[in-house]
Amino acid sequence: PRSTLFPYTTLFRSNVIWLSPVFDSPNVDNGYDISDYFAIMSDFGTMEDFDELLATAHEHGIKILMDLVANHTSDQHPWFVQSRSSKDNPYRDYYIWKDPNGFDENGSPIPPNNWASEFGGSAWEWDEATQQFYLHIFFKEQPDLNWANPKVREDLYAMVRWWLDKGVDGFRLDAINIISKPEGFPDDPSTDFEKHTSSIPFVIANGTMVHPWMKELNREAFSKYDVMTVGETSATSPEDAKLWAGYDAGELQMLFHFDHMGVDNDPEGSLGGKWSYAPYKLTELKRILNEWQTKLEGKAWGSLYWNNHDQPRTVSRFGNDSPEFREVSGKMLGTVLHMMQGTPYIYQGEELGMTNVFFDSVDDYNDLEIHDSWRKYVVESQRVSPEDMLRYISASGRDNARTPMQWDASENAGFTTGTPWLKVNPRYTDINAAEELANDDSIFYHYSDLIHLRKEHPIVLTGEYRVLNPEDEQVYAYLRVNSAEDAAESGERALLVVANFTQETLSL
Ligand code: GLC
Repeated sequence: PRSTLFPYTTLFRSNVIWLSPVFDSPNVDNGYDISDYFAIMSDFGTMEDFDELLATAHEHGIKILMDLVANHTSDQHPWFVQSRSSKDNPYRDYYIWKDPNGFDENGSPIPPNNWASEFGGSAWEWDEATQQFYLHIFFKEQPDLNWANPKVREDLYAMVRWWLDKGVDGFRLDAINIISKPEGFPDDPSTDFEKHTSSIPFVIANGTMVHPWMKELNREAFSKYDVMTVGETSATSPEDAKLWAGYDAGELQMLFHFDHMGVDNDPEGSLGGKWSYAPYKLTELKRILNEWQTKLEGKAWGSLYWNNHDQPRTVSRFGNDSPEFREVSGKMLGTVLHMMQGTPYIYQGEELGMTNVFFDSVDDYNDLEIHDSWRKYVVESQRVSPEDMLRYISASGRDNARTPMQWDASENAGFTTGTPWLKVNPRYTDINAAEELANDDSIFYHYSDLIHLRKEHPIVLTGEYRVLNPEDEQVYAYLRVNSAEDAAESGERALLVVANFTQETLSL
């Protein structure tokens, strides 16, 4: 039976909590700038608190997945402090330093190539003291580690083993497909400094050394433990995914791809790419999800998600968050995702149907990506009006996912009696956990039912995915079909999922 083909059967039956980074960090990028891999950020508590969390989760049969941020560190990490101190410091080669490509007529140094940072502007920062540039694909406070240096890799693998020895159950590997920079550091043909495309330089995705290094990491660390691993890999096709996460790849178990996260980007909008708002087409969303479901079939395991800490809220994005339709569209979206093949990831608040937020001042936002874009496009180049930019931020900004968790209808949604780092979404009085738990027919209980369905019906694991209506702009209908052998074993032949993406009553 196909079920025996899968190498990760115990994993599929597990419940797991993925924590975004909780390590010590100056918090420029919400913890994705780590200054000490072996300590917990004081905002979150202490290592003793962490140990208690881990032990308690394990008592309840829940696994803990950590965020492994290894493409870069914080610029406050002791390695970088050493590295920037002088050209002959032993840690110099822990990061990527390059001479300028000459100087312009004003005497300013010219960066080594045209690579853009994911968050806008050049990916190179000039260091006056040592007269070289360092590379930062994300913010300038996040210098890229030099994976080509074997000492860097040894130190990182030792750190991974340290956490696994402590008992954590695995890792989500942040931005892992950009660790291998191309030989000669060529210019990137896709660079467009005028537009915020929010994508990494094309030439650095899935570089030639990523697979040897992932096999090495697997050999030196993961393979020695019973772990769960998932790589965050933008600009990755299903063909690439088989190399990373194929059943016999010996690298990672699954990937987060981004293809369906781009369907509402508007390349023709005034800023292009991320800061835009274009209604998505259901046929396009289906085309992408179909492609991933069918191409990975039998070859690699997939991950399924609508939301994470970088994405707007799904009920506002792919559903309808009006009071009338929010609940039913939240359930509909959850169903479409959970009945597919792969491991579903639920982001905090998704199970309550939390919505995007609109703040009428940029000062109410916290994410540096939002502030940098505001400065660049609204203040400096004035390419977009403040009103339009606030609309774009509310549609696509990362802070939609980062407002405090809505527990109940009391002040600050019951999240804190202090001052939260972001305002609470004003809809918290209606949308909160207490409300969801009190209503038998809520999104929360629907998600809980979906989780039970997945555990009780092996066809969700084994059935082959077949889309029924790829051209239909309103309804998403698919089947999961078991092989004769799997059907004989489980008594389950097929599962039909039909989801109405409109607010009309339709017949199919
Ligand atoms: C990943 C994270 C994102 C972070 C970036 C840099 O994309 O999900 O939140 O800003 O990597 O670490």
